[in-house]
Amino acid sequence: MSAYGYRERKFFVEDVPFDALAAAYGTPLYVYSKKTILGDIRRIEQAFHGLPHLTYYAVKANANPALLRLIAGEGLGADVGSRGELWRALQEGFPPERCTFSGVGKRDDEILYALEQGILAFNVESTQEIEVINELAAQVNKRARILLRVNLDIDAGGHAYVSTSLRHNKFGMPHARALEVLRHAASLSNIDVGGVHSHIGSQITKPAVFTKAAEAIAALVSGLRAGGVPVHDVDFGGGFGIQYHGFVHHRSLPAEHAEEAHLSTAELLQPAVEVLRSLGCTVSIQPGRSIVAHGGVLLTRVLYRKETAEKIFLIQDGAMNDLIRPALYHAHHQIVPVELVGAPFETVDVVGPVCESGDFFAHDRRIQVMQRGDLMALMCAGAYGYVQSSTYNARPRPAEVLVDGGTHTVIRRRQTVEEL
Ligand SMILES: Cc1ncc(COP(=O)(O)O)c(C=O)c1O
Repeated sequence: MSAYGYRERKFFVEDVPFDALAAAYGTPLYVYSKKTILGDIRRIEQAFHGLPHLTYYAVKANANPALLRLIAGEGLGADVGSRGELWRALQEGFPPERCTFSGVGKRDDEILYALEQGILAFNVESTQEIEVINELAAQVNKRARILLRVNLDIDAGGHAYVSTSLRHNKFGMPHARALEVLRHAASLSNIDVGGVHSHIGSQITKPAVFTKAAEAIAALVSGLRAGGVPVHDVDFGGGFGIQYHGFVHHRSLPAEHAEEAHLSTAELLQPAVEVLRSLGCTVSIQPGRSIVAHGGVLLTRVLYRKETAEKIFLIQDGAMNDLIRPALYHAHHQIVPVELVGAPFETVDVVGPVCESGDFFAHDRRIQVMQRGDLMALMCAGAYGYVQSSTYNARPRPAEVLVDGGTHTVIRRRQTVEEL
């Protein structure tokens, strides 16, 4: 059952009304639901049930220390994309032997730090990177386990910025070169070849895309084995699409429909899991969004209502610096009122106060008539929300609060102007 819903007219997360959180901590405010995050981890684990696998949470999706601690406590590993993420993950209890390091551009100091900490593996993306890791590992007398990220040339759909496995993208090595690259890697003194990795994109909602990727990997693995490269590990990446449209249902909310029907994580991945099962490898996955997106909400307050000949604007105290996904990817976040007042619907632009026309949360959105002072909840904002926030326009970053049943705790306090 969802942790979000209306009781009488008020919108609640678990047993806490959003208006109480706004009164206690101010707005804009990120609010997380522990129950939702734990439930989503379990759903992912169920989707891979029956396939021996390791789950590495993609820290880039949300690196709040308390949330990392929560996720580490569930026994997951961490996939990091920088020294900072690795440091943070280790601080919050992820054991180094359950950390992997991905990313197309790792600095020497980042590689050395990861070697010193004894992480499980590097997901590498070029021959030069493999050679650098080999040299650095030799310097500190360590061995580095690598998985080669392959570019499968698969169109993951969705926004171009989150599609990562097309031939022209910067990520991975062309799959046709994997044998040559891994043979070379295996010849290096301080490298252990684990296998291959792919991450084809983010917010993928079509099972066929994952199946195609799994089949391409299966073909690659047999080709590599036939060519004398033993493959023990396959890292299938993340990218599991989640429901953004119509996440909260209520008869007093306008109905929202996505272009395609929403599938559960299990439905999305089941055919791919069948293919991966046949590989005889240890499979790992790197979900980010599907673990934390539904668990987070950005709570904002209407500062002004402005009506022009063309539009009604609801100007919020939250802005693109707090949540950039609509501006960056034209992403959709359902927006629901924190109090249902029985007012009719109208069509509005929901915008922030920043000096850019790109500073919007929604264009032409149906929502109940709202007034100055009313609170709104932007749903499914737990992934790529706070982590992509900035202090643009010298706006301090919002606070973050974790709700657990009837209790709520500040897990990162609001930045002050003096800290800018
Ligand atoms: C290498 C890698 N793994 C995993 C992820 C997580 O993707 P998602 O949040 O869509 O699950 C990303 C996201 O960019 C990534 O680059």
